[in-house]
Amino acid sequence: MTQISLFDPLDPEMLENPYPRYMLLQKEHPIFWHEGIRSWVVTRYRDCREILLDHTTFAINWTPTGEEIPKSRQHLQSLDPPRQAPLRSLIMNSLHAQDLDGIAQRAREHIRRRFSDLSRRPSFNWMTEVASPVALSITADLLGVEAPDHDSYLEISESIALRMDASLRPENAERGDQARLRVNALADEWFAAEASAGLLKDVKANAARAQVPEHYIHNSVALMFNSSYGTIFATAGNAVLTLLEHPQALERLRDERLLSTGVHELVRFDGPVQGTSRVAVRATEIRGVTIEPGQLVMTALAAANRDPEQFPNPDELVLDRHPNRHLGFGWGTHACVGALVGQIAIRALIVCLLENPVPLRLAGKPVRRPTATVRCMSVLPVAFGE
Ligand code: HEM
Repeated sequence: MTQISLFDPLDPEMLENPYPRYMLLQKEHPIFWHEGIRSWVVTRYRDCREILLDHTTFAINWTPTGEEIPKSRQHLQSLDPPRQAPLRSLIMNSLHAQDLDGIAQRAREHIRRRFSDLSRRPSFNWMTEVASPVALSITADLLGVEAPDHDSYLEISESIALRMDASLRPENAERGDQARLRVNALADEWFAAEASAGLLKDVKANAARAQVPEHYIHNSVALMFNSSYGTIFATAGNAVLTLLEHPQALERLRDERLLSTGVHELVRFDGPVQGTSRVAVRATEIRGVTIEPGQLVMTALAAANRDPEQFPNPDELVLDRHPNRHLGFGWGTHACVGALVGQIAIRALIVCLLENPVPLRLAGKPVRRPTATVRCMSVLPVAFGE
């Protein structure tokens, strides 16, 4: 097994800008074993996409027997087809039944109010003052549930993000597990409450017909809440920093036609999900390397999204890039169910930034959150004004 020291996901240089390192790895080590995460790491687009499409070889169920995951972790993102299929349909159908235009409009109103409150401040942290409340309100609106307390949810979400790197930082596991249980407890409260609108109401109404165990549904609603909040939060930071660093690109997004391709490009260029793992259920080969059954394979989505074989000029932000089949929302049976809502959130932020009478500017050095799986900032100091 080749152990590659180039790949140290929590190294400050990597946290700051992982892309030069990904490029080197892609060129020289398209697949390598990483002892820290006890996993194969795959960096080229074509390989990552093939792995994500082949769930019969690369499963998401990590337990060596392929059977027993703890009951509290059985949900959309831990079950493979065919068990996953009716649950995924239930969630997708309920999501598509929502008034997404209404969600977008309420998101813009919320952002305008935030901007107006923040306009007199000499500077503020975009992550806590905009990204977090916007992610929380869109998520609660979509699900039709009462938004939890803002500060405590930020802490829960951060603990879960740190938990995702527990193979590198085992000391974060316990806190993350507790945080996951807190989200499950919130989901129990939401299920017990009377819902008048939103995804949860539709999920509840259609659950019996879908014939999936009740705890799958509870756990999946908790998963959705946290995935939605965490990824919108992180993307709102990454995308806005990218646009502050590319001011002409922000201006060009005034052209409505560029907005949807532009949002996809922002997710490709610096999306939050750096990688996702699968377990080989049988012996297989990738580029001549034998993968044994039971071994983990991490698809480095963010590296794949800069693969020059798939994306011409991968390090350039090309707002009208086409085709742009990036992996920032995943691919295959576990591709993001909330991609549309994620795009609505980022689009709403861009529209509100462009219509604001004064521009947003960077007001200090951004601080990255020390998380490898989710690329995110904890402090993005900004201000309104020239
Ligand atoms: C810009 C925002 C978002 C990004 C970049 C993003 C990214 C991703 C990625 C890369 C995956 C695939 C993970 C894998 O293959 O293991 C995924 C899955 C998922 N996402 Fe998102 N996501 C976003 C927004 C959302 C929102 C708003 C929701 C909920 C409304 C959501 C819910 C989920 C769920 C439940 C899964 C698991 C699906 C499954 O396993 O079948 N995401 N997301």
